[in-house]
Amino acid sequence: MSEGSLQRAGQLRRQLQEHNHRYYVLDDPTVSDAEYDALFRELQALEAAHPELRTPDSPTQRVGGVASSEFASVRHRVPMLSLNNCFSEEELRDFDRRVREGLGRATVAYAAEPKLDGLAVSLIYEDGVFVRGATRGDGETGEDISDNLRTIRRIPLRLHPSTSSGHTASKVVEVRGEVYLPHEGFRRMNEEAAAKGEKLYVNPRNAAAGSLRQLDSTITAKRPLAFYAYGVAQGLPPQRRTHMDMLQQLRDWGFPVSELVRRVEAADGCLAYYGEIGAKRASLPFDIDGVVYKLDDLAGREELGFVSRAPRWAVAHKYPAEEAQTLLENVDFQVGRTGVLTPTARLRTVFVGGANVSNATLHNMDEVARKDVHIGDTVIVRRAGDVIPEVKAVVLALRPADARPVVMPAHCPVCGSEVRRDPEGVAYRCVGRLVCKAQLKQALQHFVSRKAADIDGVGEALISELVERERLKSPADLYTLEVADVAQLYKSAEVAPAKIIEAIAARRELALSRLIYALGIPSVGETTAKDLARHLGAFERVRVALPEVLTLVEGIGVAAAEEIGSFFADAHNAAAVDALLERVTISGEQPVSAEIADQCSLAALLAQQQVKGLGPVKAEKLTAGLGSVTELLVRIDDPALAALLDERTAAAVQAHFAESANRERLQLLERQFEAFGLTGAAATQRAAAGGPLAGKTFVLTGTLPVPRDEVAAQIEAGGGKVSGSVSAKTDFLVAGEAAGSKLAKAEKLGVTVLDYAALQGLLGGEKP
Ligand code: IVH
Repeated sequence: MSEGSLQRAGQLRRQLQEHNHRYYVLDDPTVSDAEYDALFRELQALEAAHPELRTPDSPTQRVGGVASSEFASVRHRVPMLSLNNCFSEEELRDFDRRVREGLGRATVAYAAEPKLDGLAVSLIYEDGVFVRGATRGDGETGEDISDNLRTIRRIPLRLHPSTSSGHTASKVVEVRGEVYLPHEGFRRMNEEAAAKGEKLYVNPRNAAAGSLRQLDSTITAKRPLAFYAYGVAQGLPPQRRTHMDMLQQLRDWGFPVSELVRRVEAADGCLAYYGEIGAKRASLPFDIDGVVYKLDDLAGREELGFVSRAPRWAVAHKYPAEEAQTLLENVDFQVGRTGVLTPTARLRTVFVGGANVSNATLHNMDEVARKDVHIGDTVIVRRAGDVIPEVKAVVLALRPADARPVVMPAHCPVCGSEVRRDPEGVAYRCVGRLVCKAQLKQALQHFVSRKAADIDGVGEALISELVERERLKSPADLYTLEVADVAQLYKSAEVAPAKIIEAIAARRELALSRLIYALGIPSVGETTAKDLARHLGAFERVRVALPEVLTLVEGIGVAAAEEIGSFFADAHNAAAVDALLERVTISGEQPVSAEIADQCSLAALLAQQQVKGLGPVKAEKLTAGLGSVTELLVRIDDPALAALLDERTAAAVQAHFAESANRERLQLLERQFEAFGLTGAAATQRAAAGGPLAGKTFVLTGTLPVPRDEVAAQIEAGGGKVSGSVSAKTDFLVAGEAAGSKLAKAEKLGVTVLDYAALQGLLGGEKP
């Protein structure tokens, strides 16, 4: 072996150590992965050629080595203590009082840290080199897991010389900290386990423990374990006098220390920290089960000492556990507003996440199958923050022999209607719609809610009672309620029955967007309802719109268009909507928006037909000079078509329209365009550029002699635009009988007001 190899090996080790620290601890790498790999492979090759060059602190030792048959036990030179817990403000204040009294001080400062939910380890360094690492075990004796710990990149194999402090490390240094698995790593491990058909880990802590206890360290090396240092048990330079100093020393040596650590003053500071970390808990990338307060002054610690196996100078302040085990006694199916049946676990009541929990969601049948949930199982229930409690996993080892599988009922548990699985997707639905009292109650609650019809005083209890008495069978029935109906049920109501009836009457007129939203169409939220109202302008148009037209509305995709279509196609819904339209009036109806009109050209229609090769450009060529679908369909049979397009596309177009269903679809769409006042939009737009109303904006109000759609179509055919509301940009207001606020506003703004006859004059080329 040459002197050069020896030097080069040392140099490589130092470089790799530095890059490791920058990457894993400081999160600030200065070389690429490829550069790192090149250095790493060079060192590996050197060590393979000269095994005597291999040192225990070499970065090559992190990939794991020979499997052992068992772990050797090691006696901790300094016992690994545990912490006393406190669960309340009162207990925390008691702790603080004991500390102050023990030290005879009026107030003390603490170092506050997150309490990581992992495994405590001890790391021994001799002459700056990692020589041994062990589990806590019983606190006196642990297991030697050095080979496994060496694979964790965040644990330095050699202490950095303390350049900043100038304190030299003692011969023996012992560092304590927590090995844990971040959520992301846990997710990855379970994904891999699932792919291999292996058992899943219940939580990150178990997965970390399993990984650390591998006898084959090459397995540990593949696990995304992480580490935070929180203490020095031996070898702290005496100049370091506080816990915060100690943590700085750990950072100087190259250890990762949690960024969340802070010095706080007195019990109030501790409590503020507890609240602050608690608020962050759900969004941290790892599990914590509490925070730890440690007397910051190290000399004070000596003075206080220990009781049994825990220090008097520190305490863990625990958060409520987010997970607990309990018995799954039964599974019910809850019927949602749109009929979806959600499997719901009935549990033996358990205290978890700070509350008593006796129901938890199982989400859907796919999840039930994935988690292999049986009735009678012992399950792990999770309740994190304000999230709905869920059944997270089953403890298979505790499954009794008579455990029963969960079965989706064939009929709705509320109304007995058939239950069907959604053709695509995981949901099962009761097809009963408003016949189903569960769906009806929720549909009514949605109907009266603030963003929908906004009817005050009609609450869940009242709706439920009226539905059970069959006084309410659909939203329309709300408008037939009388004071007596409500008074009967609401003897001591907070809202007087007469007021409730008044509130309902006050909502006989509904803005179009509210009405659309209030129907509770699946996948139509408030925003989509507003978009539908703004673009299609009339309830009837929304109701009959073909999916091709619906998808022209921004934000509406194919799936939503289908949901809307099938909602109105359902006979129960159609009857309920008809009944409702007899009771309410709709305000804010207007012509189809200019944006939609612009898109409704014959060319766009064609381009939508999914004919191979026929995009918007070729569709434009094909339709140039054409006025209608009928003309187009005649032309399509013409052999000269290929002259307009290329031969291939021409053939595809002809083949497409040879199918009568495709011809009919196109004609159907054209009829819808006509009905929507969008006749030959493309053709009219060309005319419009020079039309008599070119560049003018119109608003319609009041009752006109012909339907508004038609008036709007006339204006658009003349080159004008129709808008829904009067503004400074409005050129003309066309006012019919009983014109209201729009007329007043137009007059205020000095907008010219026309009657229908005057509009006809303009269209004929007269001056206003
Ligand atoms: S200090 C004498 N600090 O909690 C003090 N422990 O019940 C000994 N833990 O076994 C521990 N985060 O596994 C300390 N910031 C932290 C901690 C922490 C987690 C664990 C550790 C220990 C247990 C004590």
